Amino acid sequence: MPELLLGQVITFTDDPFVAGPAAARHLVRGAVLLENRQILRVAEADSLRAEYPHARLHDYGSALISAGFVDAHVHYPQTGIIASWGKRLIDWLNSYTFPEEMRFDDPAYAAQIAARYFDLALAHGTTSMCSYCTIHPESVEAFFAEAQRRGMRALAGKTCMDRDTAPAGLRDTAQSAHDDSLRLLRKWHGRDRLGYVITPRFSPTSTPAQLEALGALWAAHPDCLMQTHLSEQPDEIEWVRALYPSARDYLDTYEAHGLLGANGVYGHAIHLEPRERDRLRDHGAALVHCPTSNTFIGSGLFDMAGLMAEGQRIGLATDTGGGSSFSMLRTMAAAYEVAQLRHNPLHPAQLWWLATVGAARALRIDAQVGNIAPGMEADLIVLDLHSTPAIAQRAERAESFWEELFPTIMMGDDRAISAVWINGRPVRTRP
Ligand code: GUN
Ligand code: ZN
Repeated sequence: MPELLLGQVITFTDDPFVAGPAAARHLVRGAVLLENRQILRVAEADSLRAEYPHARLHDYGSALISAGFVDAHVHYPQTGIIASWGKRLIDWLNSYTFPEEMRFDDPAYAAQIAARYFDLALAHGTTSMCSYCTIHPESVEAFFAEAQRRGMRALAGKTCMDRDTAPAGLRDTAQSAHDDSLRLLRKWHGRDRLGYVITPRFSPTSTPAQLEALGALWAAHPDCLMQTHLSEQPDEIEWVRALYPSARDYLDTYEAHGLLGANGVYGHAIHLEPRERDRLRDHGAALVHCPTSNTFIGSGLFDMAGLMAEGQRIGLATDTGGGSSFSMLRTMAAAYEVAQLRHNPLHPAQLWWLATVGAARALRIDAQVGNIAPGMEADLIVLDLHSTPAIAQRAERAESFWEELFPTIMMGDDRAISAVWINGRPVRTRP
């Protein structure tokens, strides 16, 4: 039976960084019609109700129906160490992250954290994500099994590290990284709604031989994404320079080993050289802005305006547990604050687009998810735009939709998420 969801509706017909806020379409009393796990129509509520009198009604009143959020860069194994105090990138990895990631050789622990991560993601309205796992194949199995059980469109890969800069106990080899990744890719890529992502952690923890092996794997499976980290902190860039003395810059350590391409997804990308920016744009690679992480770990201020103006493909992400929130609302707020520090007030339409269409576009899943349009998969969220007293009192005096939405962007959290639909079905997000 078709399902008809009623409420305010936000969709995008264009890119608001190019076309401005008019790129968004807002229906005050709209409707989204779902059938067979897909979006069939989006239109005014009155007209769809008249056309489909037998559809099952879900009237969300004045709540906002949106595409589910897409988180373009997350480390699900770091769920347990989110909000760990006092370190910058390299110390943070050594003090908190690597000891926690070592625990994922235990399939039971990996399954427990994967379930916890997906519970948290869905409670915050995130319906698709691209995650790093750990070096352990068990951690990848746990992620995909949990995503599959929930019917989600999700992407992930085995994090590869073979250099002695990573601790003993958290290292693979060039060969085992290639072979394990290939086996996992063959098992999971394209199964149900899942996709495998070739995942060298970053140049400092891989040998050139490992980067070469993963470049060869990507060349053999070019429809897979490849994700890694790029130019997050100045100390990290110095380290890369010392480890790869013949590289022209950080990106060149990937480029020289077959790890630069259109399906490449580069996390952080804060401190880029002009040559790196040119090469990333020429390839149509994706850059992922992780604003809560970049402030929490003290990494720097992503150049959203400059990178967008030169035509880069950009997505938005939490980067948990380096990021300090599972919420894409909080992540939009941080993106706004970082852009303000660079004298660029991002419009709510641009923020919402980054967390939905933009992130899906960065992950090359924008034909399936990230927007509400006929033929797209029915991953939807419903937001209460008055979810706390502080938000409600500000939203009540709003004179436009954007003014009503912005307090939820700036102050909202999981309390704003009142319903989540995955693949055309409502899911429970609270016990
Ligand atoms: N660079 C390499 N690994 C990581 C990670 O786990 N988190 C962040 N934020 N940066 C990294
Ligand atoms: Zn990361």
